[in-house]
Amino acid sequence: MTIGLLGMGTIGSGVFEIAQSLEGVHVKKVLEKRFQAEYITDNIEEIVNDPEIELVVETMGGLHPAYEFASQALSHGKHFVTANKLLVSVYGPELTKLAKEKGVAFLYGAACGGGIAYLANLEIARNIDRIVALGGILNGTTNYILDSMQSRNMDYATALSEAQALGYAERDPSSDVDGLDTMRKLILACAVGFDAYVAPEEIPTFGISAVLPLDVEQARAKGRVLRLCAFARRAEDGALSAWVEPTLVCAASPEAAILNNVNYAWYQGESYGLMSYTGQGAGKLPTAANVLRDVRSVAAGHRYMTGEKCAAAHPDNASARHAYYLRVPAGAELPAVWAAEKRCCGAWDVYEVKDAPVSEMHALAARIPGTFFAGVQEA
Ligand code: HSE
Repeated sequence: MTIGLLGMGTIGSGVFEIAQSLEGVHVKKVLEKRFQAEYITDNIEEIVNDPEIELVVETMGGLHPAYEFASQALSHGKHFVTANKLLVSVYGPELTKLAKEKGVAFLYGAACGGGIAYLANLEIARNIDRIVALGGILNGTTNYILDSMQSRNMDYATALSEAQALGYAERDPSSDVDGLDTMRKLILACAVGFDAYVAPEEIPTFGISAVLPLDVEQARAKGRVLRLCAFARRAEDGALSAWVEPTLVCAASPEAAILNNVNYAWYQGESYGLMSYTGQGAGKLPTAANVLRDVRSVAAGHRYMTGEKCAAAHPDNASARHAYYLRVPAGAELPAVWAAEKRCCGAWDVYEVKDAPVSEMHALAARIPGTFFAGVQEA
């Protein structure tokens, strides 16, 4: 397979490095502005118009010009493999359609789970089984922060700087800490697992930027551990619910055992039951290895990750409800219908909410600055 590689950053250089040792894989040209070498070009035309290049690998990240380059490559009949979750979460349906029209591949296995072959296995399962639920810990930066606060009593800012120094965080770490990176990966998992395209604005997403040591202490006092979790469920009648929120997981749960930047991605099939995958969700070589797994998979004839029936779906998160931990500024009012036990903690009121609709809890946090909440995992 002769490849044109777009971007020689962290993941791109990993792809280039690993490809050197792979038989039948040859990176012929690299699109990159920062370096010079005979295989490097700063002109996308030299890649998409090269008749020897069969497949374009995109590891630049960002939405533009990644989208324009993807469209160009597919339009020129090149297979396209990407690790770019933002690109796929926004333009996945359109690019898959274009790939189908052109009879070429569009694969993005490394865009959710980094080095973990989660989407690839989810796709195999979906072709056999009805996937009823999926989710997990899909962001290494936030897990690193929460685990550091929990196990090393580190403050939020120091833990975030460490995660940045270790290369886990996005260029703009707000997409990690605000849950957006997790939400984008959940969109990909819903497309592959449920054949459901969900728009980013339809997934209630709450991250960890408001978390305080007080929340970690409150979790510990209850024998719980804080994790940022993605969750989606598809009922038998097709109704979908999906959200991203911090979660108080049981100390004995698999999620609580996920430390540092490790990811934990799972799905539940009617026949398969619960299947879970752990490993490096980010990082140069693990992610690059997963990109190259997609390249091999294209060579073996694989073309698309979603099924023929994949269509737009609209989650109903008003009907989904569960128990919550909630911390609001002292005196803030909760909806009168919520049954909740209250504790006063200085400037904050902490509530154990017995049962609240997911969409209402997310809306409340958006209304009241400083609020932090976490879903309570069923014991
Ligand atoms: N910033 C992401 C993370 C990188 O922390 O998981 C991998 O998508």
